Amino acid sequence: VDLQPLNTLAIAARAAHFARVENVEELREALAYAREKKLPILPLGGGSNIVLTGDFPGLVILIELRGLSLAKNALGTSVSAAAGENWHQLVMQTVEQGLGGLENLALIPGKIGAAPIQNIGAYGVELRDTFTELQALHIPTGELHVFSNADCQFGYRDSVFKGTARDQYIITRVSLQLPTDWRARLDYPALREYFTERGQGTAGLRPAEVARAVIDIRNSKLPSPDDIPNAGSFFKNPLVDAALYRSLKEAHPDLVAFAAGDQWKLAAGWLIDRAGWRGARRHAVGVHDRQALVLVNPGRGSGAEVTGLAAEIAADIRSKFGVDLEPEPRYYP
Ligand code: EPU
Repeated sequence: VDLQPLNTLAIAARAAHFARVENVEELREALAYAREKKLPILPLGGGSNIVLTGDFPGLVILIELRGLSLAKNALGTSVSAAAGENWHQLVMQTVEQGLGGLENLALIPGKIGAAPIQNIGAYGVELRDTFTELQALHIPTGELHVFSNADCQFGYRDSVFKGTARDQYIITRVSLQLPTDWRARLDYPALREYFTERGQGTAGLRPAEVARAVIDIRNSKLPSPDDIPNAGSFFKNPLVDAALYRSLKEAHPDLVAFAAGDQWKLAAGWLIDRAGWRGARRHAVGVHDRQALVLVNPGRGSGAEVTGLAAEIAADIRSKFGVDLEPEPRYYP
C-alpha cells in the first residue's frame, strides 16, 4: 500500500502489510496477524507527526475507530472520543456548543488517539489540562488497560507512550473533562496581541472566539499540509540551563525564551530563523518561509531528504548557539 496520501509530509513510501481497523476486535485481529508473521507495527492516525524514512517492512494499522460522546456531569462536561476521531473537529464541536477548554488547541492536525502520545499543546494549553483517562490495547496481551492522567506521565511534548510504554500500546479511546468555570487562557503573547491589535477587549470572550483567533494565528504562519506538505514543528523547543540562557541572551538580546522552572525553554524557531534558515530550500524540501520551525516538502522528496535537512539544521544550531535540537516527529522505520 502507498503511504504517500497517509502522511502529511507526503513522503512516498510503501507498507509491506496494511490493515484498516474500525473497532477493537478488528484491531486485535490485525495485531494477531502481526504477531503470527513477526511483523513490526506502525499504528497510523492522521500521519501528521511521522517521517517515513523508507518503506515500512511490517504492518501499518490505520486507526479508524469512531465514536464521540459528550455528557454533563457535576464538574462540567465529560468527553469520550474514539482514537480515530479527528482532533480539530472535536474542538470545533465543543466550542460551537459554548464549551470551553479545548479552544487553544484548535486546528492541530491529527487524530485523537495520537494526542496523548506527545501531549499536544499550543498557545499555553496542553492536552493534559483537560485529560482524565484513556483506554489502550496492550499489544503483547491484547488486554485493554486504563491510564489515568498521572499514569500517562505527561510532560512537554512527552508521555509514558514515548518512554517506558513505547510501542507497547495502541490507544483506543480518550476521555476529557471540560470545566464549568471556564476562563479564556490568553497567557501566550501572540494570542493576547491578536485581541489587543484589533482593539478588542478580552473580557467576556467566548470559547469560539478564542478558537477563531487561534485558527487565524495558525493560518498566518503554519502551512496547511493540503497546500504544502509538512509535519508542524519539526523540533521541540529546547530546554537549557540558566547559565547557557544568560550567555545567549547577552549575545542576542532579542532571543525568545520562556522560564521553565529553573531552566529556560528557547524558541527553536527563533534560533533557526536567526541562523538564516527561514525560507531555505534543498531540492524538494525546505524550511517554511513564515515559521522556521516547520520543515516543508513541496517537491515531495524522500524521508532521507527531510531528515538530512533536519540534521544539517541541528548541526548548525549546535555550532552557532551550543544548543541541541531534538526532532519532534517520530522516524519510521
Ligand atoms: N520565531 C521567530 N522566527 C521563526 C519562528 C518563530 O523569530 O521563524 C519566534 C516567534 O516570533 C515567537 C517565538 O519564536 O516569538 C515562538 O514562535 P511561535 O509562537 O510560532 O511558537 P513555537 O514555539 O515556534 C510552539 C509549538 C507549536 C505551537 C506554538 C503555539 C513546539 C515544538 N511547537 O511553536 O506547536 O502551535 O508553539 O503554542 O512546541 C507543533 O507541535 O507541531 C506545533 C505547531
